Amino acid sequence: MCGIIGYVGVDEVVPVVLDGLRRLEYRGYDSAGIAVVGAGEIRILRAAGKLRNLEQRAYHEPLHGTTGIGHTRWATHGAPTEANAHPQRDVSGAVAVVHNGILENYSDLRAELIEAGVDLTSDTDTELIAQLIGREKGPLPERVRAILPRLHGQYAVVAVFKDEPDVVVAFRQGPPLVIGIGEDEAIVASDVVALLHRTREVLFLDDNEIAVVRRDGIELLDSAGDHVERSTETLDWDAGRVEKGGYRHFMLKEIFEQPDAIRNTVVSHLDAARSGVILDGLGFDPEKMDKIRRVHLVACGTSWHASLVGKFLIEKLCGLPTDVDYASEYRYRSPLLRDDTLVIGVTQSGETADTLAAMSLAKSQGSLLGTVCNVRGSSAWREADATILTQAGPEIGVASTKAFTTQLVAMLLLALALRKHGGGADELDTELVHQLQTLPVAIEKTLSMERATFRRATEMLSGAPNSLFLGRGILYPIALEGALKLKEISYLHAEGYPAGEMKHGPIALLQDGFPVVSLALNTATREKLLGNLMEVRARGASVIAVAEADSKAVDEIADLVLPVPHVHPLLQPIVAVVPLQLLAYNVAVELGLDVDQPRNLAKSVTVE
Ligand code: F6R
Repeated sequence: MCGIIGYVGVDEVVPVVLDGLRRLEYRGYDSAGIAVVGAGEIRILRAAGKLRNLEQRAYHEPLHGTTGIGHTRWATHGAPTEANAHPQRDVSGAVAVVHNGILENYSDLRAELIEAGVDLTSDTDTELIAQLIGREKGPLPERVRAILPRLHGQYAVVAVFKDEPDVVVAFRQGPPLVIGIGEDEAIVASDVVALLHRTREVLFLDDNEIAVVRRDGIELLDSAGDHVERSTETLDWDAGRVEKGGYRHFMLKEIFEQPDAIRNTVVSHLDAARSGVILDGLGFDPEKMDKIRRVHLVACGTSWHASLVGKFLIEKLCGLPTDVDYASEYRYRSPLLRDDTLVIGVTQSGETADTLAAMSLAKSQGSLLGTVCNVRGSSAWREADATILTQAGPEIGVASTKAFTTQLVAMLLLALALRKHGGGADELDTELVHQLQTLPVAIEKTLSMERATFRRATEMLSGAPNSLFLGRGILYPIALEGALKLKEISYLHAEGYPAGEMKHGPIALLQDGFPVVSLALNTATREKLLGNLMEVRARGASVIAVAEADSKAVDEIADLVLPVPHVHPLLQPIVAVVPLQLLAYNVAVELGLDVDQPRNLAKSVTVE
């Protein structure tokens, strides 16, 4: 939520910052702004709405300088107006800041500043940070350090100063900040995607640290003002992966990247003979693993759906009781945590505030803490004792696709590894490892499905304000995920439901033409699902079924079949979700909506 960038170097700062903001726009797109230090002052340009509005202003009102900050906003305090856009500055114009997060003591600080006679110009908590720094005197890091105890809540802040034109200062508590070190320049950003094209040498800022960033070096201080030594890391992501590469939308590109993303995730967790799963070197301490008797999976949104599939896999393959929780609920419900509990935070970004809080709760209670995460160096990656890194590469589309399918793969890898550790591996494991390696080909087949099939399905869904997605067993979470994909990018209401539950309420919705999307792959409960679909048809509703291409029984019931290849039942969720991703994408495009930046959403929910 909110994209932040800061630059200090030798290039003109405005194009650098605007370029960075373009790459960060998926984090928020309510308003945007930029501040440039030069000629003894800080000049600011801001605009409500998407980044292009700011770009137009920057074209007509050029600013020059080599130090600056920028922001793309997902509104929390205050409406998405120009006055509330970042950067915000103090009354004297000495400091300007951009901020991602929420100050919980906003009302108290605001009242205190008004009482002190400060003329506030916005409704934001961000302005309060600028005003507080602006009232401090003394050398630079001290001015910032002095106000940190006053800030309660979560913040990632980058600031520039009128009297220090060659410096940006960054500090955080919660939301991420990464500093890229290039030749004669440094860039601070809320995500590596904003700086990959300039440098791969990075340093991740930790909570309560202050970074004084100059073009020739970084000074890191802790909250006591003491120097912190930390070496940089070299990222292995390729800059080309954060471009659209000829696709109309990032989401479509990312759907088509799934075969590679899955291949890379599988290969990176197999032994040299590629016949078994290894978690060596990932932090899974064998002694601690011996103790594991229960598993908790905590996550939000799409990652929570992947966790539901994970529960099926871990319980079936390892016999370990597994609970799945929304991270936002888990952290407040006093979960029963012991040292025999493996807690896994499942998170694409590794920065989701609720998931991180749930993970740190588990750690504080002595549980073994793991993460299934897509971003090396992220907060989840750093917090966990053990990490299964998905190899999806950067995911820019707000609707998660390739991160989800690689999370499903990671869940299976985790289940296989736990099973092997418990001594339970047999020919089923060999079969699953083999199937995992052929899975990319199965996904490629699904991706090459006839366009005409999608055209019909798109017509059926795009004209209907409501739809129902049904699945059973391991495919029930895929019904939830299919409905979520449709909702978030097409703004059409869709409900995911276990098919057997339909009779207990949702059946009342059904009438002529009401679309029901079902996961009708060949499973142990398919007969029961087909029975549910007969009930759907009997009420005049239309059935779109995801099923294996040669499923006669499904052909007879469904109005339309979205075909997928045969795979092992435990891998079915991974192939079954792909047509639903494409369906949601096609519906949103048909409705003329902004697929990559759906309204009100932002990727990486770094506030609670
Ligand atoms: C939906 C989507 C979200 C995320 C959720 C968790 O398409 O992307 O529901 O899955 O915000 O994000 P991560 O996985 O980054 O913790």
